[in-house]
Amino acid sequence: MLQLLRRNSPIFTIIVIISFAIFLSFAFINSYITLWPQNYSVSTKENISTLKVGPMYPPVFAYLVSGTGGENRRIIRLLHSIYHPRNCYLLQLDAGSTEEERTELGKYVKNETMFRNYGNVFVLGKVNAVDRSGSSMVATTLHGAAVLLKTCMNWDWFINLSSLDYPLMTQDDLLDAFMSVPRDLNFIDHTSDLGWKEDARFDKIIVDPSLYSNQNAKHFLATETRMTPDAFKIFTGSPWVILSKSFVEECIRGTDNLPRKLLMYFTNVAYSMEAYFQTLSCNSKDFMNKTINADFRFFMWDNPPGLDPLFLNESNFDKMLSSGAAFSRRFVENEPVLDRLDKEILKRISGNFTYGKWHENGDINSVESGPMVLKLRRLISEVTQRRGCI
Ligand SMILES: *[C@@H]1O[C@H](CO)[C@@H](O)[C@H](O)[C@H]1NC(C)=O
Ligand SMILES: *[C@@H]1O[C@H](CO)[C@@H](O)[C@H](O)[C@H]1NC(C)=O
Ligand SMILES: *[C@@H]1O[C@H](CO)[C@@H](O)[C@H](O)[C@H]1NC(C)=O
Ligand SMILES: *[C@@H]1O[C@H](CO)[C@@H](O)[C@H](O)[C@H]1NC(C)=O
Ligand SMILES: *[C@@H]1O[C@H](CO)[C@@H](O)[C@H](O)[C@H]1NC(C)=O
Ligand SMILES: *[C@@H]1O[C@H](CO)[C@@H](O)[C@H](O)[C@H]1NC(C)=O
Repeated sequence: MLQLLRRNSPIFTIIVIISFAIFLSFAFINSYITLWPQNYSVSTKENISTLKVGPMYPPVFAYLVSGTGGENRRIIRLLHSIYHPRNCYLLQLDAGSTEEERTELGKYVKNETMFRNYGNVFVLGKVNAVDRSGSSMVATTLHGAAVLLKTCMNWDWFINLSSLDYPLMTQDDLLDAFMSVPRDLNFIDHTSDLGWKEDARFDKIIVDPSLYSNQNAKHFLATETRMTPDAFKIFTGSPWVILSKSFVEECIRGTDNLPRKLLMYFTNVAYSMEAYFQTLSCNSKDFMNKTINADFRFFMWDNPPGLDPLFLNESNFDKMLSSGAAFSRRFVENEPVLDRLDKEILKRISGNFTYGKWHENGDINSVESGPMVLKLRRLISEVTQRRGCI
């Protein structure tokens, strides 16, 4: 029965054709359920310089951009506004989106010459259900971070954004400002002063059905309560983080058990995305002194503050810019102030990408910052004076 097939035998040819057909169909299916693009297809027509990394070069950011159904156009606009060939981008749509929307986003990314040339934009085909106030949010963020560790080799910082965010400076500004920052620092807004949250959040037990449901589902409360933990100290703060690669690696595949224990504890805590990374970094010997209390985001809160920050508009333009923050939120779709940011700050013209030196000379290893960089540099040097958790 078993017999070696010679390369030129007809049976061999048929087998090759069949396996090639099977491979093709898998390649096709895969591109719709896993990641786009499957391979880095670097066009030789373009004059593409290779990515150089290390302390002598600007850093590399790995962005996770999350959205839901009906937000493709916003995500595409945000992507163009934060795009730089050095960086890596993972777009993920949650279970509030349809299969068609995810496919459409994947096709869009595949079809954009710049993304194809540099092979640094990915769309997560696998969908996660989320409750924006439950622990499924942390799970989906960690999922994105894990995929970024695998798909992109050389990044320095992980930044999470949502489709309701927008940058307040060019990527050249951001890359330039972070160039001299030690690459192992984490920017996590935090406090150990839990205040009203202690019994309103951490003593209550919630169940997040999005962890076991195919649809986005709202969490519910258990009738029992529990004690505030004494095995570790809880820290809480902004869910908008900038994490070093070493910290993300610790979260995903650390040999210390704290990341896993906390993940399981926070499964039943409401708004755990405002406490997981805070509590982990501030209870870990290796990371507590590499934690900087800042998030570089601009928000405006109502008085008294609601659950979400206010929608920003033209009236907040000056305040946004003078804050020195790198990103702001939240905006309604096509808010006119975004056009003003595009025009005056991001200089989004050719091909609708934010201005970058790479656009002019094709060199992706040097940047040219504008006036916005000064405020961010000052802010960074101010906040990095104080390391460690408070
Ligand atoms: C693909 O890109 C080309 C050129 O930029 C454009 O004309 C075309 O409409 C795009 N197709 C899709 C499906 O987006
Ligand atoms: C990360 O980004 C998403 C944006 O959709 C946000 O909702 C979430 O709370 C963020 N933070 C964490 C720690 O998951
Ligand atoms: C963190 O820094 C403080 C102050 O410099 C120091 O006392 C402490 O030992 C450091 N902790 C760790 C775990 O390195
Ligand atoms: C802009 O936002 C503020 C709240 O921050 C609101 O009071 C004002 O009405 C808004 N203006 C417009 C034109 O929407
Ligand atoms: C550039 O942006 C404008 C306005 O947002 C849009 O109408 C146009 O289609 C965009 N062009 C390209 C090439 O993406
Ligand atoms: C193309 O690349 C070469 C070598 O890196 C460089 O010298 C040249 O200036 C580049 N040309 C353009 C138009 O970017």
